[in-house]
Amino acid sequence: MSSLKKDSWGSRVGLILAMAGNAVGLGNFLRFPVQAVENGGGAFIIPYLVCFLLMGIPLLWIEWSTGRLGGKHGHHSTPFILDTMDKRKFWKYLGVFGIFTNIAVAAYYCYIESWTMAYVYHSIAGTFDSMKQSEVAAFFGSYIDIGHSTTGIPYEAIIFYILCLLLNTFILSRGLAGVEKAAKIGMPLLIIFGIFLAFKGLTLGTSGATAEHPDANAFEGLNFLWTPQYDSLTNPKVWLAAAGQIFFTLSVGMGTIQCYASYVRSKDDIALNAVSAGFMNEFVEVVLGSLIVIPIAAGYLGVDWLKENAGFGMAFQTMPYLFEQWGPALSVIAGVMWFGLLFFAGITSSLAMGTPWMGFMRDEFKWDQNKGAWSFGLITLIMGLPTVIYFQQGVFDEYDYWAGTVSLVVFALAETILFAWIFGMNKGWKEINQGGDIKIPSVYRFIIKWVTPLLLLFVFIGSLVTPLNNDWIGAIQNGWVLDNSSIIKQLTNAGLKEQIAAATDPAVIKTLEEKLHYSLIARFMLVALFAGISWLVYVAYQKRIKEGRIKL
Ligand code: PHE
Repeated sequence: MSSLKKDSWGSRVGLILAMAGNAVGLGNFLRFPVQAVENGGGAFIIPYLVCFLLMGIPLLWIEWSTGRLGGKHGHHSTPFILDTMDKRKFWKYLGVFGIFTNIAVAAYYCYIESWTMAYVYHSIAGTFDSMKQSEVAAFFGSYIDIGHSTTGIPYEAIIFYILCLLLNTFILSRGLAGVEKAAKIGMPLLIIFGIFLAFKGLTLGTSGATAEHPDANAFEGLNFLWTPQYDSLTNPKVWLAAAGQIFFTLSVGMGTIQCYASYVRSKDDIALNAVSAGFMNEFVEVVLGSLIVIPIAAGYLGVDWLKENAGFGMAFQTMPYLFEQWGPALSVIAGVMWFGLLFFAGITSSLAMGTPWMGFMRDEFKWDQNKGAWSFGLITLIMGLPTVIYFQQGVFDEYDYWAGTVSLVVFALAETILFAWIFGMNKGWKEINQGGDIKIPSVYRFIIKWVTPLLLLFVFIGSLVTPLNNDWIGAIQNGWVLDNSSIIKQLTNAGLKEQIAAATDPAVIKTLEEKLHYSLIARFMLVALFAGISWLVYVAYQKRIKEGRIKL
């Protein structure tokens, strides 16, 4: 079998599981509960669900349909998929986002994924047995080497990171079949593990209360999350956070969905497939994602502790300690299930991140899947090592902000305008419905044309010029002062610079200056990656002209 033969998914179940695996990721179990807690629990849920319906679902349809359309023309990554939709030349450079974001996100995403591998191992090895809460937390600190060794190099973390990349690369080198197989194994296991842990979370009640945490109550955690608070509806900050979570969790605005959908046969349904995968993701996120960390942490440590300590480190710093309360055997099982679940969630997503690059190199430069996979692994390693070694200096956060947050919004906005306004809703609606196994309510035609782009525009502008302390009313009344979290202020690192100016302790100043320095290095890496891919797109375009594959 030639590795350059036309690829497509093995079966519909395989496709749905792969797509769901792509969406279901660390975002569902680590990011969602933290975002929900930080944005007021029940205050978060309504904007979140509204964003899912008005932005998430439409973007899924846009990306699935443009992906399938691209596939028909032999394109499997966004630069040339967007190129087929309009005559103007610049769209293909916008399409660079659909490869860039994936590699940049994979670089730091695989780092967390590698923690989950390491923690499965440590759960089995009994590393956490009879450790105190502070010791479990300290173990995490030493694992990622926060102020522990004199070399400043987290050896164990690097080894697991490389192992994790090797595993990803190996599966990717098997092509679409490898991705499909990983999803077929990983997704069912993830759901079984998730249901087991959610059951524990649901039935914990007040049994975890101790003298130290007399108020601990798992139900209170759930109440906090699920009591809707309507006043949040007027708070743009919560809306921005909700929109950001929808993007990340559905993997929209990244180019992976187009890539997966480009392997769907042109007559096959996408209308139903897109919603099925989307709803599966929401089930895992909203049901399983909220029934594990939140009730278990609230059940042992109380809701107040949870509100103060919510962060994605919680899954590693605290959960192993809480599992210990379940006795020696069950704590091993719970540890393996929790970190195993995270691992499967992570790997079925990181595999997706490799596919746009592989698709692009194959379409344009005839690289087979082996070459595509290993080059992806290598580039990810080069991009990723700084996030591992300079984790505390903030390289990781910098990648997450620019690639994992800002880029998604920019790209989603651009592709929605292209789809609804330039390609046009007439053609667009036809593309979405072609071969459809369901009839999409026609109100979505209106939503995709008007509501989704406006909402995206609002999210983008809101992030660009976020007002001081997120006080929108105050800004409108008293003049607009930018908050340091706005994209514009982030661009100049205004917040860090202010902190440096205000600091008096030389040690603190040194740490902050180091952060500033590494933030620039991180940005340099990101810009270099973007420029490199743009150059490849340029070369590919010239090549297409020479080969007469483009009508000028
Ligand atoms: N949706 C994934 C998650 O929730 C993240 C992801 C990003 C997946 C980019 C694929 C591409 O973790």
